[in-house]
Amino acid sequence: MDAETVLTTTRSVRRKLDFDREVPQDVLDACLRIAQQAPAAGAMAAQFRWLLVRDADTKAAIAAHSRETAEAAWEKYGHLVEARALASAQHLVRNLDRVPVLAIPCMIGRPPSDAFSQSAYFGSAYPAIWSFQLALRARGLGSSICGYHLQDHEADVARLLGIPDDVMQISLLAVAYTTQRDFRPAARPALEDITYLERWGSPL
Ligand SMILES: Cc1cc2nc3c(=O)[nH]c(=O)nc-3n(C[C@H](O)[C@H](O)[C@H](O)COP(=O)(O)O)c2cc1C
Repeated sequence: MDAETVLTTTRSVRRKLDFDREVPQDVLDACLRIAQQAPAAGAMAAQFRWLLVRDADTKAAIAAHSRETAEAAWEKYGHLVEARALASAQHLVRNLDRVPVLAIPCMIGRPPSDAFSQSAYFGSAYPAIWSFQLALRARGLGSSICGYHLQDHEADVARLLGIPDDVMQISLLAVAYTTQRDFRPAARPALEDITYLERWGSPL
C-alpha cells in the first residue's frame, strides 16, 4: 500500500474489527517501533509509554468503565450525533471487551497548564498514536481511539493496571485485524473553507 493510500484511508474502524482473529505480538511490535519514529518535543519523548492489554478479565473491566460513561453521555447528547456515527461508536463500546488488544498511550507527568507546554505534551503523544494507526492499517489491521473511560474512570483503570497517579492515560485504542481491506477517503470540508492566507478569515 503506497503512503498516500495509507494516509487517506486510515479510518477509525469500529464495525469492521475482527474480534476473533489473534493479533500476534511481533506485528504489534513492528507498528510500535514505527510509532517511535514520530516527532516529539524534546524531553517529552522520554515521557511517553504504551500499555497493551490483552487479558480478557482486564479488558472486560475497562470495557465496563467505558460503557458506563459512554452510555450516560449518549443518553444526554446522543440526539446531537449523526445516527450512523452513533451506532458505530455504540457497536465498539458495547463490544470493547471482545477487541483483541487495547493499547493505552500514556505520558509520565500530568498535563501542564500553559499553552506552550500543553502543545508539547499532547503534541508529543498524537504523532506516535497516528503513526501506530497508520502502521496497523498498512498491515491489514485497524484501530479506533475510544477514550470514554477517561471522563469518569481514568483513576479506576489506572488502579486496575497499576498506572501511577502522575501518569496520564492520553487515550485508549481498540486494535484488531479488519474484516475488509478497502477503506475510502472520508468526506471532509472543502480545503478553501478551512485554510486562510495571510490573515484569519482571508481566503486562499
Ligand atoms: C483525540 C481523538 C479522540 C477520539 N475519541 C474517540 C472516542 O472516544 N470514540 C470514538 O468512537 N472515536 C473517537 N475518535 C475518532 C473520531 O471520532 C474519528 O476520527 C472521526 O469520527 C473521523 O473519522 P475517521 O477517523 O474515520 O476519519 C477520536 C479521535 C481523536 C483524534
